[in-house]
Amino acid sequence: MLPVEVKKDIYWVGAVDWNIRDFHGYSTPKGTTYNAYLLLDEKTALFDTVKKPFKDTLLHNISRLIEPRTVDYLIVNHVEMDHSGALPEIMEAIRPHKVFCSAMGKKALMEHYRRDDWPYEVVESGRTIRLGKKSVQFLETRMLHWPDSMMSYIPEDRLLISSDGFGQHWATSQRFDDQVDFSQLMRHSAKYYANILLLYSPLIQKLLGSVQQMGLPIDMIAPDHGLIWRGEPQRIIDAYAEWSRQQGKEKALIIYDTMWHSTEKMAYAIGDGLSQENVDFEIFNLKYAHRSDVMTEVLDARALIFGSSTLNNGMMPAMADMLTYLKGLKPLNKLGAAFGSYGWSGEAVKLLTGVMEEMKIELADAGLRVKYAPSHADLKQCIELGRKIGAAVKEKS
Ligand code: FEO
Repeated sequence: MLPVEVKKDIYWVGAVDWNIRDFHGYSTPKGTTYNAYLLLDEKTALFDTVKKPFKDTLLHNISRLIEPRTVDYLIVNHVEMDHSGALPEIMEAIRPHKVFCSAMGKKALMEHYRRDDWPYEVVESGRTIRLGKKSVQFLETRMLHWPDSMMSYIPEDRLLISSDGFGQHWATSQRFDDQVDFSQLMRHSAKYYANILLLYSPLIQKLLGSVQQMGLPIDMIAPDHGLIWRGEPQRIIDAYAEWSRQQGKEKALIIYDTMWHSTEKMAYAIGDGLSQENVDFEIFNLKYAHRSDVMTEVLDARALIFGSSTLNNGMMPAMADMLTYLKGLKPLNKLGAAFGSYGWSGEAVKLLTGVMEEMKIELADAGLRVKYAPSHADLKQCIELGRKIGAAVKEKS
């Protein structure tokens, strides 16, 4: 894609990756973008680079605007390799006078690229550099998404270059929020939040508080992935405020894997119980549902109900995968229970319950096991379990 002017003399010069389908465990059926921005002033600054295979795209885009060697400053908001993979070759091509980064950014750059001869200049939150008519104020955002992360604010344009924050993994031919279907955009944003940022929700609340306290007016948010928020940037700020509170709504998820469909029958009967309590639910068979799509629904669900058959004294492999992923993303304020069928040893429900306890999921029930195939009476018990969880969900409202 050709450069796009996002504000006067500030250009998107990144790359669109139409083909990526897995982003460290997160399914990206619609690809992603690696956004980099070039600010032209008395001093020229490049904000971030791109993933290594896209370095030529970035260089071509810079070359369409200026001679790459005339870039004065490189600002590294984030070192993860989707933004810095191209950095060593870009450094050779542009030879900037300074590389601005956080203290953790410098450390991470050294540990990735082993270069102590680059002209690092470490900056802290609140430091401002002047480029000419415009300036850049740095805002350290540790752990959003890595310890090195920071954002760059251009006060003259009321523009926040937000690194991983407020992004989406969505490859499009458009660059702005007001050029795409807004509900799809919010759906991609929610998936991104649930799969990348959920565990840092307390830090996001702190960040939103500091931005409010600093009184930074924001007209545009330019993330390092996906669309730029120029139409209604407050909509994504409000969504982050809501998602980071993790209050959830009256919604339950039944997430299961099944060997011979017995656990599946239990899942559907639990759904019937939730229906009787008028609680919305979704059912995910992990043979078909991707962990990252389940995570998107976890974001606003109040109850998580896990089911697995017992396999070789353990749980089904897809369930172990799901729980490992989910545990790492640290969802808060959930309740739930476990269920599953078994043949003789029957450990799965106990194991699921143990993981739920570790995740501080409030148990609405000690767990329900059924031997081999569920009888009519067993399914009635499952319906009762669904009702019990449904009642607990409503009690939390
Ligand atoms: Fe888009 Fe944390 O990298």
